Amino acid sequence: MHRRRARRRPAKHVTTSFDNAAQVLTPPEAGLPYLRTHRANEFNLDPGGITVGDDGNVAALEPTKTADVHVDATGCALLPGFVDCHTHLPFAGWRAQEYEQKVTGVPYEEIARSGGGIASSAKALRETPDEAVLEQARELAGEMLATGTTTFECKSGYGLSCDGELRSIKLAGRLDEQIHQQTTRTALLAHAVPNGYTADTWMDEVEAMVPDAVRAGATALDIFVESIAFGVEHLDRMGTLATDHNLLLRAHAEQLSTMRSVPIALKHHARSLDHLSVIHPDDVQPLASSDTAAVLLPGAEFMNKEATAPARGLIEAGAVVVLATDANPGTSPVFSLPTIIGLGVRRYGLSTKEALLAVTLNSAYVIDRARQTGSIEPGKRADLILLDCPAEHIAYRLGRNPVAAAFVAGEPVYVRPDAAWRIMQG
Ligand code: NIG
Ligand code: FE
Repeated sequence: MHRRRARRRPAKHVTTSFDNAAQVLTPPEAGLPYLRTHRANEFNLDPGGITVGDDGNVAALEPTKTADVHVDATGCALLPGFVDCHTHLPFAGWRAQEYEQKVTGVPYEEIARSGGGIASSAKALRETPDEAVLEQARELAGEMLATGTTTFECKSGYGLSCDGELRSIKLAGRLDEQIHQQTTRTALLAHAVPNGYTADTWMDEVEAMVPDAVRAGATALDIFVESIAFGVEHLDRMGTLATDHNLLLRAHAEQLSTMRSVPIALKHHARSLDHLSVIHPDDVQPLASSDTAAVLLPGAEFMNKEATAPARGLIEAGAVVVLATDANPGTSPVFSLPTIIGLGVRRYGLSTKEALLAVTLNSAYVIDRARQTGSIEPGKRADLILLDCPAEHIAYRLGRNPVAAAFVAGEPVYVRPDAAWRIMQG
């Protein structure tokens, strides 16, 4: 039997003061929907403290002596909890054998064509009972919490049949009830073309499935635009479906082949384009000038030996740049945002503030949660993490987990044993 975590417990009606942090990350103004990355330097990373009210929201950007609970943040960085806006949870099993094929020179497209890749994860999902899928996902959500992720997105996409996709979205909904994090559901209904279909006939099924996906809690549609998957004409169709059903449009775009997805995605006001490793140079400025976020996935780029997305060009052109794990059993079996920050900073040449903005406010925007989380400001939910070191160390000490504690709505939901002394009643 699995252990259900008590979560979203009723607020304990305590106030909490975070005292004496060496760094507190706060936005330049309240209520920002996102911040273009070239303005990341406007974020403050100064010493200080904050107060969380008994409703679980940030109450003040200063500590309070009379608070019920005090958190001694001496020497720590106090940051908003990380938001991972691109994961493929829940899935079943792993594909370690493929990784070995890949590192020894077999291309991803070839692995996919020979029944590996997405199809093999679809088979594993089909053959794994619900409870076992959830158990694996809960364990991974626990790892994510311990590395600072307090909100994340779940995608379907390994169902590869109507029943399978809806099952996957429903499992994501059940996962949400069993873990500490808040999650969102994205229906990645066009991930690979299932056997017996063409991309066009599968899109007919997708169209019929969308209302059920919405009923199961999906708030976004996603599609893999790639030579081995779906074309820009299918992205166009997905964009219309998203508009018709009032859903966000997201796309896996320009990952392995330059497909020229950007103009079509912008026509449909996509919320994000993800990957962009081989974006066409002519598409950089239009994307950067739009409200469509550029979600870069350095874990997939590194593990899959892909091209490097032109992050600096995007930033200088004004883009809303985001980093995410792309956590999945194939291209990016990486669940730690500190590791992704480390890879992204080195690979793309990001400053600490640019990287932090990319995993907090801007990633919350991608999943439409920036009104609730993603920055430390009065009125927002107190989703917070405490690092045992300055924020600059996240990228620098690559592979080390700096997270000492994580809080959701002001409550400590993960505390590393050596940091327990920091939380004191009265
Ligand atoms: O984001 N690009 C397509 N989808 C996933 C990979 C899925 C898989 O290999 O299982 C990605 O990289
Ligand atoms: Fe992905």
